[in-house]
Amino acid sequence: MTLTEIVDIQKIRADFPVLDQEINGKKLVYFDNAATTQKPIAVINALKHYYEFDNANIHRGIHTLAERATRDFEATREAVRKFLGAASTEEIIFTSGTTNGINLVASTYGRKFIKEGDEIIISGLEHHSNIVPWQMLCEEKGITLKVIPVNDRGELDIEVYDQLLSEKVKLVSVNHVSNALGTINPVKEIIAKAHAVGAVVMIDGAQATSHLDIDVQDLDADFYAFSAHKLYGPTGVGALYGKKALLEAMPPYMGGGEMIKEVTFEKTTYNELPYKFEAGTPNIADVVALKAALEYMDSIGRDKIAAHEDMLLQYATEQLLQIEGLRMIGEAKNKVSVASFVIEGIHPQDIGVLLDNLGVAVRTGHHCTQPLMKRFNILGTTRASFAVYNTIEEVDRLIAGLHRVKKMLA
Ligand SMILES: Cc1ncc(COP(=O)(O)O)c(C=O)c1O
Repeated sequence: MTLTEIVDIQKIRADFPVLDQEINGKKLVYFDNAATTQKPIAVINALKHYYEFDNANIHRGIHTLAERATRDFEATREAVRKFLGAASTEEIIFTSGTTNGINLVASTYGRKFIKEGDEIIISGLEHHSNIVPWQMLCEEKGITLKVIPVNDRGELDIEVYDQLLSEKVKLVSVNHVSNALGTINPVKEIIAKAHAVGAVVMIDGAQATSHLDIDVQDLDADFYAFSAHKLYGPTGVGALYGKKALLEAMPPYMGGGEMIKEVTFEKTTYNELPYKFEAGTPNIADVVALKAALEYMDSIGRDKIAAHEDMLLQYATEQLLQIEGLRMIGEAKNKVSVASFVIEGIHPQDIGVLLDNLGVAVRTGHHCTQPLMKRFNILGTTRASFAVYNTIEEVDRLIAGLHRVKKMLA
């Protein structure tokens, strides 16, 4: 299987102006895609077009610019509904990203429906943004936090999950895909089991949406959050899906303009869904550009993107394992294009600095998953994560760079 059989790689690379530059005298290799992806010209142009021609505040204006801005903002809501497989746009709330979506659910659903003596389950694979909001809630309300352990391959131990489940559990929150290891979690099974004891389930989709097809109805997820910047869209915007009945039962998150129906000093009534959860002027331009990102992915084909990334992961894994002293962290049977590893005797940060000198951008450290690093008894890893614009030649540059690092430091 060659690269060109899966995607037209040269055409795709030409869509990403940022890739066409040298870092420290070498052509940039960008392998920090799990942190944030680069943006295609279609997304950059959508932002530019919005500010050049359509900028206005949405929903309340009757002039032409306000109508255009509102139309494009709401068109993204419909695009996100379709992208997630949700039943209605009322179930799509724009947020500033995954972190914001999880905090919204913890602060509203959590505060209202989870009480002292109840339990919340998360997993050992979570990003800090799917740990800390639940810990804060648990501290405030006297709730117990339980954690699904991770096996040596970096997969969740579902047998222990089965044992943790009981009628005391009111909410389960896990990621669909681990950012640190790339593990794809069996979320459909996790959700069904939680529902069987009456718990609702929040899925952190930050790392899944750029690699997998998402269907929240098929998964039967109660809440699903993602960030646009991980899927070729702008930073500072994302969406939270929530089942309509749950969203309707939840109190608002922030108070302010837009989320109200009527305000008097005695009492305020709240707007209908989804606006009840969208107080204040939203990030209109970035919401508009998110639609361009979704269309960009569709124009390539999401299955082709996934196949290309899988090919890069397989090739990179084979090559990495040939480096003496290198240990992969995360060898799940089902994983996305994340290669996390440690090299005996070399600090990940030194690897990162030396690779950057060679023009290769990787992420090093704990990846906002300190408990997971502790589980593997390491301070951090070096993580190369691949996107649609990456190539086999770039993987070769990483491997050559690591051989050089070893020669210098081991
Ligand atoms: C699994 C996971 N969850 C949550 C987040 C937080 O996303 P954001 O910073 O866009 O809110 C990230 C970001 O790296 C992530 O990888």
